[in-house]
Amino acid sequence: MKEKKYVKLLAKAKEAAGNSYNKYSKFAVGSAVLCANGKIYAGTNVENASYGLTSCAERNALFNAVSNGETKIKAVAVWTKRGGVFPCGACRQVILELSQNADIIINKNDKDIIIVNIQELLPFSFSEIDLGLAAGKLKRQ
Ligand code: THU
Repeated sequence: MKEKKYVKLLAKAKEAAGNSYNKYSKFAVGSAVLCANGKIYAGTNVENASYGLTSCAERNALFNAVSNGETKIKAVAVWTKRGGVFPCGACRQVILELSQNADIIINKNDKDIIIVNIQELLPFSFSEIDLGLAAGKLKRQ
């Protein structure tokens, strides 16, 4: 059962949310990325007085994984206190770039989790296929 294996991943995302630098929005987001080798990398949102420079939790977690040499990303968890918060559009694009079949795990509330596939969150996507590169694992619509 998928839910069970993602409990720890979501716990790591929650832990990362505790480090959120969110002095402008006061909105803490934590993310954790699961790699094929079982390793987990976390990230949180880091804001800036120049608002547009804010970096989302998901991208920070993904770039943390890549920066540590990971090439096979299986899942991305997102935790917020509110629950039911999905990755923003920019993060969806970056997730798809790095993992075409990623499971996205969201805390719905204190006990329930939601699992969706990145291709459900970003249909009709722009990808390497459009650039004439390898077909990858994306479904064409
Ligand atoms: N944020 C994330 O970290 N991830 C998302 O998917 C949505 C938004 C952050 C950015 C900003 O620090 C705060 O949440 C409010 O937008």
